[in-house]
Amino acid sequence: MDKQTQPTILFFDSGVGGFSVYKETKQLLPNCHYLYCFDNEYFPYSEKTEEEIIQRTLSICHKINQDFPLDIIVIACNTASTVVLPVLREYFSIPIVGTVPAIKPAAEISETKHIGLLATKGTVKRAYVSDLIKNYASYCIVEKIGSTKLVEIAEQKLHGKSTDLITLKQELFAWQSIMDLDTIVLGCTHFPLIKEEIAQCLPQVKYFMDSGKAIALRVKNLLSNAKVQSKISEKNLIFCTQKFNYDSQFENTINLWGFEELNILTVNE
Ligand code: DGL
Repeated sequence: MDKQTQPTILFFDSGVGGFSVYKETKQLLPNCHYLYCFDNEYFPYSEKTEEEIIQRTLSICHKINQDFPLDIIVIACNTASTVVLPVLREYFSIPIVGTVPAIKPAAEISETKHIGLLATKGTVKRAYVSDLIKNYASYCIVEKIGSTKLVEIAEQKLHGKSTDLITLKQELFAWQSIMDLDTIVLGCTHFPLIKEEIAQCLPQVKYFMDSGKAIALRVKNLLSNAKVQSKISEKNLIFCTQKFNYDSQFENTINLWGFEELNILTVNE
């Protein structure tokens, strides 16, 4: 890919969780033009209604696409992906990549065939997820935990706050005594950011599965077939939907991931 045909890719999440997906893609495709937007005004999405999530995601993607014509949109959020993909695919003509829980690879890799889905409260009850389990893990026992607190803990970690291990343990309590639970699906993009802490609470777990690498490969594959909008090299941009005071740790994190200052996106619904 030369610099003249640098594709513009938007990563969207409610918070910093989408970084866990963006990071994998950036590593694989370092020369794309990346935009990252997080909807901190509506964070967390975990318990929001499906209608609210569809409305927010559509308005935000529409607004960004108007200002920065996009080649691919990655919905780097399981909670949103399990409801918005059909709507976005109807609205936009560019490829829309969703992030959904890695149930199939988890079922395949598990030796005990006893797996756990750790996701938001919204994701664990979606029909999309029940269908994934029915289609790809019907031969496994699948435990589910839906948690908003874990999302908040992960978000806080990237804002420089120490991880609340007591709350983390309480949220995972139901799985601590399931000794043959050997595989966990990190079905929320925030959770790879606290994987080490989760592993400390559940020492019996051997495999933690997330969708970051699969998404990076999917983006690469789409780009090899796509007609990319020709443009000169531009700098990567990060947006949030509400002004907030961030500390130097957060600033360092976004700098490390290739972004400069944080921009505010005004969303008209
Ligand atoms: N990171 C998101 C996900 O993958 C959403 C977390 C939230 O806002 O509740 O589900």
